[in-house]
Amino acid sequence: MRYEESLPLGFQRIPLDLLFKEERLLFDLFIKVQGHFLLYRREKQIFDDRLHRQLHVQGVTYCYIPLEDLPGFYEYLSKGLSKLHSNQKILFFKRAEKLFQIFRFLSREIYESPQNPYNLQALQLCGISLASLIDSQSLKTSFSIQKVLSSKASFGSTLKPNQDYSLKHAFDVGVLSVSFAKFLDEFDREALKEIAISGFFHDVGTFLMPEVLEKEERLSVEDWEKVHKHPEYTVRILKKAGIDIASVNHAILFHHQSNDGTGYPEYQPKILSKEAQILAFCDHYSSMTARKLYQGPLSPYAALQKLGLKFYETSPDLYKHFVRFIQNFA
Ligand SMILES: [Fe+2]
Ligand SMILES: [Fe+2]
Repeated sequence: MRYEESLPLGFQRIPLDLLFKEERLLFDLFIKVQGHFLLYRREKQIFDDRLHRQLHVQGVTYCYIPLEDLPGFYEYLSKGLSKLHSNQKILFFKRAEKLFQIFRFLSREIYESPQNPYNLQALQLCGISLASLIDSQSLKTSFSIQKVLSSKASFGSTLKPNQDYSLKHAFDVGVLSVSFAKFLDEFDREALKEIAISGFFHDVGTFLMPEVLEKEERLSVEDWEKVHKHPEYTVRILKKAGIDIASVNHAILFHHQSNDGTGYPEYQPKILSKEAQILAFCDHYSSMTARKLYQGPLSPYAALQKLGLKFYETSPDLYKHFVRFIQNFA
């Protein structure tokens, strides 16, 4: 069962809010009325604001898309996302919220089937959209996405706490990484996009081991051996889905490594790219300041202190910048 009820074979359930208003559909859209699936709008028809509101008034919150139309749905999402972040008339916060809704849907889908290339490619577009959104705003405004959305919003009541944490963490690390990179002011928009993609995807390899990820007690030695493989698994999953970007692969592969080579997996040259170090800092910071099953969140100050113990020796300059970044915006 994917959500709280079973679906007839051949349909994907989608939250209605995910659809873009006034956009031409690239799939047949069904709704469920008294247990029956009704074709509501055909491919190529416009799903306008009036129809959207009508459904809301009737209490309809989900629509259904035939599985064979899913490639069209992902194409529709990608078109909608690129229009969204280029439309300055829509308030920044509205754009951020829509991006977050799409991220939430896609990351849940990826959790269920981490190898589905359509979901992965669509989530890549969310990363690109995030980088453009953050790049087009002042850093202070951009940071509100992380504060307001990722700290409060739940990814779904049917998720176990650890699943919810994993998905929030992916969003959090994506936003933090792009924001920190923008703060450093040495990356162009292309590089910011790659940093956002690395942040969103960095732990997808752990989705291949739900038995470990969903454990509510502390992990065993064997569990940790599996977990240590997740950076390699992530890169492999992305390559299979056609997402093969050198800087992204390097950052993801070494987000648990540091310049003294004490992390994993083994890394001989021992000088990591700036992108990999940004990802490592943001990953650690996000994980320490989040609430988990077995530990409460650390305050930003305590997290920075711990981060200093880990990274000050090997990346002193970046650490000092990170402290200034968090002091200014968190
Ligand atoms: Fe990780
Ligand atoms: Fe992580």
